[in-house]
Amino acid sequence: MTTLIFATSNAHKVEEIKAFFADTPYTIQSLLDFPDIPEAPEPFDTFHQNAESKAKFVQQYTNGMVIADDSGLVVDALNGQPGVFSKRYSNEGTAEANNVKLLSNMKGLSNRTARFVCVFAIVDQKGTQYIEGVCEGNIATEYSGQGGFGYDPIFLPTDFIGRSMAELSMAEKNSISHRGRALQQFKKFLLKHI
Ligand code: IMP
Repeated sequence: MTTLIFATSNAHKVEEIKAFFADTPYTIQSLLDFPDIPEAPEPFDTFHQNAESKAKFVQQYTNGMVIADDSGLVVDALNGQPGVFSKRYSNEGTAEANNVKLLSNMKGLSNRTARFVCVFAIVDQKGTQYIEGVCEGNIATEYSGQGGFGYDPIFLPTDFIGRSMAELSMAEKNSISHRGRALQQFKKFLLKHI
């Protein structure tokens, strides 16, 4: 059995990734399994650079392949914000405060197009490879749904008209989400490389 180490301690992401690999021979580990590894810095202004630096940081403490994701919400009317700063968009840095700030900054704007972006950096002895997944949608004017995390209650994915990301089941979210799409490509990558 091959173990894949995902360099994240976000329990929601870990749950999505484990659900995605449930019917495969891979065992998934995350930073939740390595509590002694300190939080990796994310100092850059691109998803690619942050993902690679997180993966390389964690690789120092483990053996084998490390996969790190950097993800976020890119809003066209806000010139791409919150983007790489999605996690800490508001001063508080909670999902609630981030959503309040985003809805307030979008007040009265008619262009509400946005996308979730997820970049995986896969780091092993051979170097770094990248995989990218994108999920198109619009920013809602109000909250709906209890599922998911982060900006899900105010994101209306184009693939499920009339429902927010937080109103999708985990299987539905994984079938269209930025991370789900990156994971689908990653599965193909694994078939070729392992
Ligand atoms: P990261 O952990 O640095 O990649 O930060 C990602 C941030 O982007 C999260 O804290 C959320 O605010 C947001 N985000 C990423 N993926 C999702 C998602 O699937 N749903 C909602 N928000 C997300």
